[in-house]
Amino acid sequence: AAAETDTTGNDKEAGKPLVLGFSQVGAESGWRSANTKSIQESAKEAGYDLKFSDAQQKQENQIKALRSFIQQKVDVIAFSPVVESGWDTVLKEAKDAGIPVVLTDRAVDSKDKSLYVTFIGSDFVEEGRKAGQWLSDQYKDAAEDVNIVELQGTTGSAPANDRKSGFAEVIASNPHLKVVASQTGDFTRAKGKEVMQAFLKSNKNIDVLYAHNDDMALGAIQAIEAAGLKPGVDIKIISVDAVKDGMQAASEGKINFIVECNPLLGPQLMEAAQSIVDGKTLEPRIVTIESTFTSEQAKEVLASRQY
Ligand code: AHR
Repeated sequence: AAAETDTTGNDKEAGKPLVLGFSQVGAESGWRSANTKSIQESAKEAGYDLKFSDAQQKQENQIKALRSFIQQKVDVIAFSPVVESGWDTVLKEAKDAGIPVVLTDRAVDSKDKSLYVTFIGSDFVEEGRKAGQWLSDQYKDAAEDVNIVELQGTTGSAPANDRKSGFAEVIASNPHLKVVASQTGDFTRAKGKEVMQAFLKSNKNIDVLYAHNDDMALGAIQAIEAAGLKPGVDIKIISVDAVKDGMQAASEGKINFIVECNPLLGPQLMEAAQSIVDGKTLEPRIVTIESTFTSEQAKEVLASRQY
């Protein structure tokens, strides 16, 4: 078969499918499952050869996967970095091998922006701000302190860092809004439940729970109910993602407000990969458009929610 040279410098035989190596964070949440499905289905639809690897929430596994993609000389590498730091060495290895890298969902904190082509995903700081804004509006006339507990996502991950800082930035304008406890629940239901149990033990007057994702909020709801309290009423709950189970809890009034984080990044990723091998120039940042849902709004769209 005739050989063609694409823009990455790789020798590609004409007619061969684009080979995409993708390293996923893990399967820690409903959001992640929807994200994986979107990537796998979109790759299939595009006719790409997808090499998919699950890192089980461990950076070392992701680094191994990226090195294996480099060895296999894939056309494009994409990954959703479990944490923000510590990627420069392996990204440099990919660059030296002439393999372009796309970040999806989560960013890295590398100073050298030439180590990846683009970052496709949400603005997590903005998500945190939206959560904080809703809370500030709810308690704008508060005369007493409002005690907030926070369930953070995976320590060191971009969504945990950014959702925390965006929220803190907005609530800072009201001195009555106080975060009295903040701990990681690792984005999982089990951890969310466990940490909420501990919060309830050591904090008598919790008014609000801010969970960095729906799964932790759903775990926390179990702990709140087991403590004889009504989620959404005795303790107001804000979360992020808007996956089906979260929207179900919101429509039942157990979650008061959800900030959407869109996991359906597959089509944008396939388009970006194709553009790269076609030699087109991409924007360095592709932001996903997202919305928010109150309990009432969740009720309205629940039946049509796909994930
Ligand atoms: O990076 C996106 C976050 O990761 C989602 O909000 C969370 O549910 C997932 O695990």
